[in-house]
Amino acid sequence: MSATPSGLATSYDPVIHRWPHLVHADQLQRAVTNYLFEQSDVMLELLKQRDRVKMRPKEPDSRPFSLGYEIGAYGTNLALLRSLESCIALLHFQEASTRTATSFSTAAARLGAQTFLIQDVGRAEDSLTSRRKGETLRMTLEMYRQYHADSLIMRSPNVADPYMAAQLFDDYTGSHWPDHDKRWGVVINAGNGDDQHPTQALLDLYSIRKVAGSLSDLTILFAGDVGRARAVNSLLIALANCGNNITVKLAVPVIGDYRLVPPQPTLDRLTQAGVNYELVDVPDRATFVSLAQAVDVAYYTRLQAERYGAELAPDFAAQNAAIILMDEELMTAAPNLHVFHPLPLREEIAEGMEEHQRALFRRQAGWGVPVRMALLYSCILYPEELQRLAYT
Ligand code: NCD
Repeated sequence: MSATPSGLATSYDPVIHRWPHLVHADQLQRAVTNYLFEQSDVMLELLKQRDRVKMRPKEPDSRPFSLGYEIGAYGTNLALLRSLESCIALLHFQEASTRTATSFSTAAARLGAQTFLIQDVGRAEDSLTSRRKGETLRMTLEMYRQYHADSLIMRSPNVADPYMAAQLFDDYTGSHWPDHDKRWGVVINAGNGDDQHPTQALLDLYSIRKVAGSLSDLTILFAGDVGRARAVNSLLIALANCGNNITVKLAVPVIGDYRLVPPQPTLDRLTQAGVNYELVDVPDRATFVSLAQAVDVAYYTRLQAERYGAELAPDFAAQNAAIILMDEELMTAAPNLHVFHPLPLREEIAEGMEEHQRALFRRQAGWGVPVRMALLYSCILYPEELQRLAYT
C-alpha cells in the first residue's frame, strides 16, 4: 500500500477499505453480491409498483397523489420509498458523467434521500467550489464528513481519491462527534481514473445474470478499450470473484506495435480465480466476427480517448471501431450474441443498433437505478449485514 504524507492510503488495501464503503471491485465477493442482487430485484419490483400506483387513473374526486395514502391502500413494500428519508447523498463528481450521476441521484431520491450533486470538472479557475481558491480535495472531504453526509458518491480522475476518502470517513478523531456511536458515512467510488468503477461492475454482473440466467458457464468477449476502461477492469475482477466456469476472450486492439491489454494484476487475478482468459489479436474484421460467433456475451466499451496522450494515433479509435463494429451483419453472423455496453456509445456501435433485440445497453443502464438503490439502502441502513456477508 502507498500512502500520502498524511498517512492516508492512495491505493486499494483490503485491510483498510472495507464494506460498507465500496471502492474496489475486489469487494464484490459472491455472498455480498448475491445479497445485493436480491435487494436489486426487490427495488426493481418496488419501482414497478410505484409506477403502477402513480399512473393509476384517479377518480374525479380523489385526493392528490399521496404516498402515505397509497401505502395504506396497497399494503406493499412501497414504504421502502421512504427508507432513506432524512439521509443525505452527496455526489462529488470531478469527471464527466451522465448515467452514473443521474442514476445515483434518482436511486437516492426514490428512497427518500436528499441528493446534492457537486460537479467540479475542469480547470481550477473555472471551478464553482473552493478549489478555485486553492482548497484541497482533502479539506473538501473533511467538510462532507463534518456535515454527516450519509453517503459520498465520488468520481475523480485521480486514482487515489476514493481510497483516501474512505479512510478519512472512517477516522472519527477529527470529527465533532468522536464519541458518537458509529455514524456511517459511506464512500462509494463512482469511477477513479482508469482504475475502478465498482458500481458499474455490480450493475454489469446483475445485467448479465438477468439476461443469461446466471453467472455460470459463460464465454464473454470484451471488445473496445480492454486496456484502459475502468468498467472492463472492474468487471473482470468482479467476474473472477462471482462467476463459475467463465471463459473470457479479450479482443486486444493492435495498431502497429501498440497493444492495449488489461493491467497485469487483473490478469493475474483471473488466473488465480481459475478464469480461462485469452488475449486475442484482432487484425481484421473476419477474425473478430469468428470470435463473436463463439461467445455468449460481448461487453463493449468505447476507446477511452481522454486517457491517452500523444501515444495514441489519431485514427486509432476509428480503425479499431471498424474491426469490432457491432452492426446488423455481426448480429446476423452471431445469432446467439448478447451485447452489453456501459455507455456512452461511440463509433464501435453502428447507428440505430441500440434498437436491436440482443443489444441490452438501454435496459442495462435502466437497471442502474434499482441496483444503486439496493446499494445505498444496504450501505446506509444495514452496514453490519454487508460486513457479516463479506467478512465472516
Ligand atoms: C463509463 C465510465 O465512466 O467509466 N461510463 C459509465 O459510468 N457508464 C464508461 C465510459 O466512460 O466509457
